[in-house]
Amino acid sequence: MNADIQSIQDEATNAFEKAQSIKELYDYKVKYLGKNGSFSAIMRNMGKLSKEDKPKFGKMVNEAKNKLDEIYAKKEESLKEKALEERLSSEWLDLSLPGPKRFKGSGHPLTMVTREIVDILSRLGFSVRLGPLIEKDRYNFEALNIPADHPSRDMQDTFYVDDTHVLRTHTSPVQIHVLESEKPPIRVLAPGAVFRCDSDTTHSPNFHQIEGLLIDHKVSMGDLKGTIGYFMRELFGKKTKIRFRPSFFPFTEPSAEFDCSCTKCQGKGCNLCGHTGWMEMGGCGIVHPKVFEQTGVEYPKWQGFAFGFGIERMAMIKYGITDIRLFVDNDIRFLEQF
Ligand code: DAH
Repeated sequence: MNADIQSIQDEATNAFEKAQSIKELYDYKVKYLGKNGSFSAIMRNMGKLSKEDKPKFGKMVNEAKNKLDEIYAKKEESLKEKALEERLSSEWLDLSLPGPKRFKGSGHPLTMVTREIVDILSRLGFSVRLGPLIEKDRYNFEALNIPADHPSRDMQDTFYVDDTHVLRTHTSPVQIHVLESEKPPIRVLAPGAVFRCDSDTTHSPNFHQIEGLLIDHKVSMGDLKGTIGYFMRELFGKKTKIRFRPSFFPFTEPSAEFDCSCTKCQGKGCNLCGHTGWMEMGGCGIVHPKVFEQTGVEYPKWQGFAFGFGIERMAMIKYGITDIRLFVDNDIRFLEQF
């Protein structure tokens, strides 16, 4: 019987020592020390022993079990340490690695120039007004002194919604809304979408304009030139030169178109400016008395100037973009550059 105890103890010690995992070790514990294990089995034979041998035998079994418990605990400890070490070496994290690259959103180039233009002119007291995209004939044409037979009303230019409504062909109708609803003095900017039946690399059927309107006492062409000059120099740089050419618009008198010196060649002449050294920017003029008459604003007590230009064109010049369709293609490679 003593030999049995010794051999079970040796076998169990061996098994515990060679166990590779906590699970394996536990299985051996069950096998040798468990309720149905080897020791319990030999204890069941204790009945056959003499009265004197019984306590001796019991003591020896307990000693063997205690010894094995100790070995078990030690082994368990070392396996746990090993497992932890393995985890630490397999799951380590290099905190000095750069993080994953995130996609950074940015403003659309049209939004950005619009904001920049509004920002510059807001320093002169202008603030933004928005108007509807579908306009009554009266706002888009009639009240702006554009008579029924004017060429700009041509079906080829204007998208008609029905007999009396159009998709606005310019932002000038916002002038009428403002003059009807606000009291002078007035300094407003109206940026927004406009529509014309026209499409090539520099024309889009849906493009954007920004309109300016100032109403005050004794407003002159000099005020208009000063305002546009300040704005263009802020947008394109202090060295930018401005040129005004006589022109015609039904809602201004006198009317002019304004150009700035080419931003690429500074006026020397290049492919961007068609070798003229100048780039056309927009139209402007002194508000026509007919517009005041249409909107019930007292004239000549109140006078004013107005201007309007295309935002796509501004953005194309500012960023050197050559195809207007890029603005609406939604190509991320294009948009990411701004
Ligand atoms: N509405 C004109 C156009 O679309 C641009 C324009 C010209 C606006 C003269 C103005 C202006 O306010 O005074 O071509």
